[in-house]
Amino acid sequence: MTATYFLPSERFAVAPMVDVTDTVFRQMARIMSRRCMLYTEMIAAEALMHDRPHLLDLDLEVESPVCLQLGGSEPEKLAKATTLGIERGYNAINLNAGCPSDKVQSGCFGAVLMKTPRLIGECFAAMQEAADKCTASGKPAVPVSVKTRIGVDELDSHDFTFELMSAIYEAGCRHLIIHARKAWLKGLSPKENRTVPPLNYDIVYEVKKHFPDLFVTINGGILTFDDCREHLKHVDGVMLGRAIIDNPYMLAAVDQELFGEERAVPSRDELIAPMMELAAKLQAQGTAVHFVYRHLLGLFGGIAGSRLYRRYLSENMTKKGAGPEVLQQAYKAMIAARGGADTATTTTANTTTTTTTTDANNAEEAKV
Ligand SMILES: Cc1cc2nc3c(=O)[nH]c(=O)nc-3n(C[C@H](O)[C@H](O)[C@H](O)COP(=O)(O)O)c2cc1C
Repeated sequence: MTATYFLPSERFAVAPMVDVTDTVFRQMARIMSRRCMLYTEMIAAEALMHDRPHLLDLDLEVESPVCLQLGGSEPEKLAKATTLGIERGYNAINLNAGCPSDKVQSGCFGAVLMKTPRLIGECFAAMQEAADKCTASGKPAVPVSVKTRIGVDELDSHDFTFELMSAIYEAGCRHLIIHARKAWLKGLSPKENRTVPPLNYDIVYEVKKHFPDLFVTINGGILTFDDCREHLKHVDGVMLGRAIIDNPYMLAAVDQELFGEERAVPSRDELIAPMMELAAKLQAQGTAVHFVYRHLLGLFGGIAGSRLYRRYLSENMTKKGAGPEVLQQAYKAMIAARGGADTATTTTANTTTTTTTTDANNAEEAKV
């Protein structure tokens, strides 16, 4: 049987992020991009052993393609969790072998797994076998990948990086997502572990050169479409996390910028109505609107009046009785601050694309 190693959507992926990339975020993201790959938050395989189907919450028709990220270090449980994920309809499965949070370390998974590369290989192999069994029983072929870093603690030499990647490759893995920095398990918070250890993109490029048939996704510190295009000269896919939190509107242009689609990029203003529809739909299902709108605080980042928009939205979306209209009110407050001009509604695909790229370039400044 030939396994499927990756889906074309992996050219651009939104990173798995706990407390961010839940089903609500993913439905919001799909209003902007049909093509990119979306990841779940990390779900512990152990938690899935106790019949908690809500952990796999998914609106498949809306969100697809979605990759379920699993955490764990016991091959058997990871295999079971893989099967559950495939049965639930996830389009891909990923093993987290790079996340350094304390919660994760105490369960002996995430970044600590890097200390035993062979164990990552065993976990992967069990997951791949489970996926193959599902395919043999008539389910669609679902790729299995691993997300890791280039090293951990004092295990950070060039040789160690290659030992780690080789162990995973030799277990049969053909899609690796590499966060291009190491993790310090002691002394740094998870947040610091995303900024303090220096990025080393070159070693990720070297991994790709060394394993030409390995689909390599690069991750860490990528902010703009220009950054993405530069990395894509060396590797197969890019994964962005914090840049999307800061500037979610980047997703509105990704299909055009990186997947060659020609339809017009929606302006920010044009996204207001569909976002309100989503909030109304989810509110009717019992989800408060702020669970949608918290992901849209950065929608107008870098645009005149955006501070007012953001302040209005954050102050009002959690109020008792807040409804979908809060987004429109925040938008109107911004338009009023701009002197009533609502020019962006008529923006063409090209100019919007330019704006988006500029916004992405300014993502750091746009954190208001
Ligand atoms: C809020 C937050 C939560 C995260 N949760 C996870 C997670 O569940 N699994 C994981 O593999 N990485 C997690 N990460 C790490 C990201 O997936 C990514 O590797 C990291 O942020 C570097 O990419 P970036 O520089 O594009 O943000 C998280 C990052 C953030 C900011």
